[in-house]
Amino acid sequence: MRQDRANTDQLAAEVSLLYRTSQMSALQQRLETASGEMGGRLMVLDESGKVQLDSFSELNGSRLELPEVIGILALNQTADYGVHQLNESADQSLDFHFLKRYDTTSEWVAYCTSALSQDGTIIGVLLFSSPIQDMMERLFALQDRMVLYFLVAAAAAMAIALVFSRVLTRPIAALTRSIQRMGHGDFSVRVPTRGSGEMRKLSETFNAMSEKLEMLDSSRNQFVSNASHELKTPLATMKILLESIIYQPDMEQAVRTEFLTDINKEIDRLNMIIGDLLTLVSMDSQTMRLNRTTFSLSQVVKDTAHRLQPVAEMHHQELKLAINDRCDMYADCAKLSQVVYNLMENALKYTQEGGSIRVRLIRSGRDAVLTVTDNGPGIPKEDQPHIFDRFYRVDKARSRETGGTGLGLSIVHQMVLMHGGSVSVESEEGHGATFTVELPIHQG
Ligand SMILES: Nc1ncnc2c1ncn2[C@@H]1O[C@H](COP(=O)(O)OP(=O)(O)O)[C@@H](O)[C@H]1O
Ligand SMILES: [Mg+2]
Repeated sequence: MRQDRANTDQLAAEVSLLYRTSQMSALQQRLETASGEMGGRLMVLDESGKVQLDSFSELNGSRLELPEVIGILALNQTADYGVHQLNESADQSLDFHFLKRYDTTSEWVAYCTSALSQDGTIIGVLLFSSPIQDMMERLFALQDRMVLYFLVAAAAAMAIALVFSRVLTRPIAALTRSIQRMGHGDFSVRVPTRGSGEMRKLSETFNAMSEKLEMLDSSRNQFVSNASHELKTPLATMKILLESIIYQPDMEQAVRTEFLTDINKEIDRLNMIIGDLLTLVSMDSQTMRLNRTTFSLSQVVKDTAHRLQPVAEMHHQELKLAINDRCDMYADCAKLSQVVYNLMENALKYTQEGGSIRVRLIRSGRDAVLTVTDNGPGIPKEDQPHIFDRFYRVDKARSRETGGTGLGLSIVHQMVLMHGGSVSVESEEGHGATFTVELPIHQG
């Protein structure tokens, strides 16, 4: 095509000379040879678009209103070209003749035009028309192939995208379902941890979380059922006592008073349990914050001993203090008072008549160390890991008898943890027990 245009332009220079000088037969000769060489039809048109010479000698005198001719004559271009698809209705056209002449089934032709000029004015047009069916067919075949390639590539891309999205979304969908189940209160759900990378990490994190929630859920249930049980026991006792009073109107006054006193005791017990429960629950829900002030822990120990002295005396027990340091703390005074009280109260409560309790407070580095030792019955090895659990009591009957709730040590444990300290027990059955609390002093 480009070659055709170049040839047409080149020929136009030669032709315009012959045309200007009206050497018509030489021109006709030239057109016919060039037409053979270039493999198409060549025509010379005058400035009105009428055919003056035709290499096929057929269209002389007819007017050709092709866009490529108009481009030169009306729009003053020096050259133009175009590609056309022939149609049967144009039987009188240039194309029709062209096809007949070549005896071809060609449907596509290309036209190249070039201006013939004299001193800058256009005096005519050289028109070259050639069949380009071969080229167009190749072009269309290429186009068809391109469409096919495109469709295959698009289908492949879609298939790959589909597979990938399936692979990616399946674990996410499983996770979503699990989260929904968890939202409905089922904490036993776990997701499979297949594959690698982020998805695996996410699944593992989810499983760790649901495991923790399941544990929390079951310990909460355990707590609620234990608490209810603890509350029910005094209520049941009170009900029996009250019913006896109601259904025995002629009961002796002394017996009635005894029953009422027992009811009063049960009410105290209920109060105590509820108080302990509220302390624990508020620590759980983190609403209980540390209210830190500077105070002397040794003073707290002395005050507590003073408060418990009457109890010790009542049981002929000896309560001895050994305090080496003031232990000025920056901590929550009320909570640490409760820690000291609970430990000393236990020691007095579980130690037999005439026993002895030693309380020691020393400073060791950055810690205050409190030990409460008694020479009571001690705690069996198998119970030691559990005594800081809620409601855990070694001897239920004895604990109840002495007014225990089984919550005292778990409160101690939690309060010490809140202060960043630790609590432990050492005991041998029959040889007393020693509770040790280590608390960071945190002087502000
Ligand atoms: N000094 C001690 N000597 C022997 N046993 C103890 C002592 N302190 C605690 N225990 C045991 O640990 C259990 C848990 O103590 P605690 O949580 O304070 O509950 P309680 O309300 O029964 O005192 C007690 O029931 C008791 O069996
Ligand atoms: Mg106790």
